Amino acid sequence: MFETNAKQDIFDKHGTLLLAKDYKITKDMIARLNKLGISLEISDIVEKNKNSPFFVNSMTIINSFENKIEFKNHNLISSVNKILISIIFESKKEPWWIFINGLSNYLEWLYTHSINVSIISMLIAKQLTYSDKAIRNIGIGAILHDIGKLLIPKDIIQKTEELNNFEKTLVRQHCELGMHSLETYSLPQEYLDIVLQHHERLDGSGYPNGLKEDEISLNAQIVMVADVIDACTTYCPNRASVGIRDIIKQLRQDNAKYSQDIVSIFEEVIK
Ligand SMILES: [Fe+2]
Ligand SMILES: [Fe+2]
Repeated sequence: MFETNAKQDIFDKHGTLLLAKDYKITKDMIARLNKLGISLEISDIVEKNKNSPFFVNSMTIINSFENKIEFKNHNLISSVNKILISIIFESKKEPWWIFINGLSNYLEWLYTHSINVSIISMLIAKQLTYSDKAIRNIGIGAILHDIGKLLIPKDIIQKTEELNNFEKTLVRQHCELGMHSLETYSLPQEYLDIVLQHHERLDGSGYPNGLKEDEISLNAQIVMVADVIDACTTYCPNRASVGIRDIIKQLRQDNAKYSQDIVSIFEEVIK
């Protein structure tokens, strides 16, 4: 019989404590709580998937990100992780899920990077008081931001030496390739904006379209900062890892390129 423990205190929408952390929960209790509109899927997801390599791999990435950044605010990171777990494990019928599967089977570091950028983007969105639905949407757009790289030969993406001009042009096409892959599924525009615009820069120096400031969607501005921040947490063949404080310093110096308000929000998150 299914039985697990509550991973955290569970409240109803009025803030009344329904189940205390570590309380034993059965499937019947989950069904009753679901009827009240209270979701307990996380325990259920863990139980259902715990032996699958995809689950183990994804959970290892999620947990190791939390350890690397050393968050003080555990409620914030666990609420974001909960949304991420539902994006990865509860969305298999969604048209975009095939790309998450593709990322997980392509290159380990690219999948890790995609998950980390999704977590960082959702942390910033949560701090900006986005609704749960809006946080989920930026989380989906962010986990998909580099899917265009699935269409670029592995030996170019994996190359540790500097790329030649032809290879650079090819890699830069990942934004448009990613957007065209998603376009056929008639997905919300906000996912497409993130995929297409995450290498734009506020001063117009980015690619593919040299957009400036408000021409770049707010969600893409968040993901572009998250993408740079993840340089310090994930291995990437053609860049050295740097500490998180150095990355923030770099984002501060590049104040013409990145929203300084978004950088400040991230600083609040890790404070
Ligand atoms: Fe990218
Ligand atoms: Fe990226």
